[in-house]
Amino acid sequence: MTEQLIDDFGRRVSYVRISVTDRCDFRCVYCMSEEMTFLPRAQVLTLEEIGQIARAFTEMGVEKIRLTGGEPLVRGGIEQLVDEIGALPGLNDFTMTTNGASLRKHARRLYEGGLRRLNISLDSLDPARFKQLTRTGDLAKVIDGIHAAKEAGFQRIKLNAVILKGRNDDEVLDLVDFARHEGLDISFIEEMPLGDVSDHSRAETFYSSDDVQALIEQRYPLIPTTETTPGPSRYFKMADSDSRVGFISPHSHNFCDTCNRVRVTVEGRLLLCLGNEHSVDLRAVLRRYPGDMQRLKQAIVDALPIKPERHHFTTDGDVQVVRFMNMTGG
Ligand code: GTP
Ligand code: 5AD
Ligand code: SF4
Repeated sequence: MTEQLIDDFGRRVSYVRISVTDRCDFRCVYCMSEEMTFLPRAQVLTLEEIGQIARAFTEMGVEKIRLTGGEPLVRGGIEQLVDEIGALPGLNDFTMTTNGASLRKHARRLYEGGLRRLNISLDSLDPARFKQLTRTGDLAKVIDGIHAAKEAGFQRIKLNAVILKGRNDDEVLDLVDFARHEGLDISFIEEMPLGDVSDHSRAETFYSSDDVQALIEQRYPLIPTTETTPGPSRYFKMADSDSRVGFISPHSHNFCDTCNRVRVTVEGRLLLCLGNEHSVDLRAVLRRYPGDMQRLKQAIVDALPIKPERHHFTTDGDVQVVRFMNMTGG
């Protein structure tokens, strides 16, 4: 099948985000609740199933695959999965979003397997605050992981910082300086209302990208670019640095009209939009018809008409999607 994946709004799906595990060694306050329970193994896609899904998508014109979690590096066998996906023809952007804590152990092997880009979450440069925001994370390990990734050969590593009012908004300039010093890009993200995280009221912690931008411009004028990853970030340059500053602004600058992506949850649900629950059960197809790529592809094509035009997130603090972020990897 050479069918391209085009939805009812004329948007071509060229980017698939695959969550390989719901587990994580961190418990970030905006992503999970403190008492998180994880899925039984039987409900989680096997590595072989994930490999088949990745292959089906690339055969239908998908050029970009991102592995997410939870934390993808806690999934046993992740190296073999990276080898398999890295060898797929047609893929020109193979990347992962990670908390960075175990990159010292994995970075070189991932690079050898064909992974070429990494996005690493980093919300604070203060060890005590980093611990508060991640509940379990060790900042020194993440910084060391970033260095390991650079040493392994990864180019254009991107930091992701979710900015919460009163929690880390005073670190925006320090984070930009860190990115500049390390030669990294950095994206600032508006928090999204997924899952009841109970740690804070999201209405009270909302911090808009425009406010983050204003803080940065106190020190570094930002020059707009048309560069794209191609993901949801709007990128800016600074006159005296190669680092790019991006903004992911689901609330204040909706980007759904250019949406090019779908997600596969850890249970094999093909989720057509982060912001609602329209999905198709690919795991059921894989398990009922093992190895039948044609049926798998047909299920993907048949799912496209339920891709919604946009999300309807608000900043009023209500949980709008009960699914926590760790099921879909953002
Ligand atoms: P690049 O390939 O570097 O552009 O990465 P990315 O921004 O596509 O992926 P990443 O995993 O770094 O995600 C950064 C943030 O963007 C996370 O908070 C995601 O939840 C958010 N994000 C990614 N795609 C979408 C999307 O389609 N809709 C919404 N609302 N948020 C998204
Ligand atoms: N809102 C915005 N971003 C989130 N992330 C996790 N949960 C949320 C949320 N509720 C981010 C992580 C990671 C990326 C995959 O998504 O920080 O960088
Ligand atoms: Fe696409 Fe949904 Fe994200 Fe909007 S919220 S960009 S439609 S996945």
